[in-house]
Amino acid sequence: MKPPSIPSTLLIFHLRPARIRARDAAVTEALRLLRPWQATAPPGGPLSEKGGVFWIALPELYVEKAVSRLAWLGYTTAVDRLEPAAAGRSRRSKGAQADGKPALKWKGNLYRATRIYEEDAETFRENAPDRRSFLLETGNGQVRAVQGYRGDGGPFSRRALPVCDARLLVNLVHRQNMASLLDPFAGGGGIVREALLHSLAVFSADIDPVLRHGLSQMGAAHCIADARRLPFASESIEAVATEPPYHQDAWQAVEESLAELRRILKPEGRVAVLCALGQAEGLRQAGQSLNLTRIHDFTIERKGTDCAALVWEKG
Ligand SMILES: C[S@@+](CC[C@H](N)C(=O)[O-])C[C@H]1O[C@@H](n2cnc3c(N)ncnc32)[C@H](O)[C@@H]1O
Repeated sequence: MKPPSIPSTLLIFHLRPARIRARDAAVTEALRLLRPWQATAPPGGPLSEKGGVFWIALPELYVEKAVSRLAWLGYTTAVDRLEPAAAGRSRRSKGAQADGKPALKWKGNLYRATRIYEEDAETFRENAPDRRSFLLETGNGQVRAVQGYRGDGGPFSRRALPVCDARLLVNLVHRQNMASLLDPFAGGGGIVREALLHSLAVFSADIDPVLRHGLSQMGAAHCIADARRLPFASESIEAVATEPPYHQDAWQAVEESLAELRRILKPEGRVAVLCALGQAEGLRQAGQSLNLTRIHDFTIERKGTDCAALVWEKG
């Protein structure tokens, strides 16, 4: 008997092993990017008992379009498409796919998973902060390309946001036809770099002048500025994604900067902040007092540093 057709195509997303516990953030990221194509995350799924995956349904008609965006995902490394496996009496159709892998049994029917996207691990690795080159102004005023620049190790200048987290932040504020994004604590440009891949006008600010050549060379319209006083007109920026310093001495300034970000954001614009877990509560309260609507609040376990990813929308 033919297995019943699934109403929409079901895609199985494989979580990045280093972010395997940030499943909610990964699902939200995927839904946000695939939103134009009516993506949903239906409850229950063929692999629900297994860790490391989630699933998204979308109309068959849109699968090809959606695939073009999968490489933007930060917390997903591969995506499979689930299709009914041909029924029959042969041993293979009952228990295995053509490639020898066992077929998936779901609601009494057999399905096969076909890989439709897989991250190139080596390319991903090559893009990591410790492999990139960044144009830096050194102590004597000279400008030179520094390989693997990750800040000077000072409490306010650790600059090595992993590519997957930079992507997540950009995706959480992403909107169809969005034209501009700002990182007001831009550091070594991890977020700037990912935002530029979306063909946006990317603005960056950082209080540290040594970064200006590197950020400008990457393609950002950069300014040296304190995030509490930014040289942008009110309601001029569509989205903000940022990772401020984690050190406690910077927390007050970071909380104060939220009012400035609210000022420059267009209505319905979003702000995504990756912060130290200990700073999250102060930021939640700051957002509330500014009448920003908090739409996401994720805990992200990173090796050695647990963080919170907070996202607000301006009403
Ligand atoms: C954690 S780093 C950002 C790292 C960045 N996400 C990356 O991928 O490289 C924080 C940055 O905030 C900057 N900073 C600290 N206080 C600031 C302030 N009040 N206004 C603007 N930038 C500030 C620091 O110079 C530093 O570059």
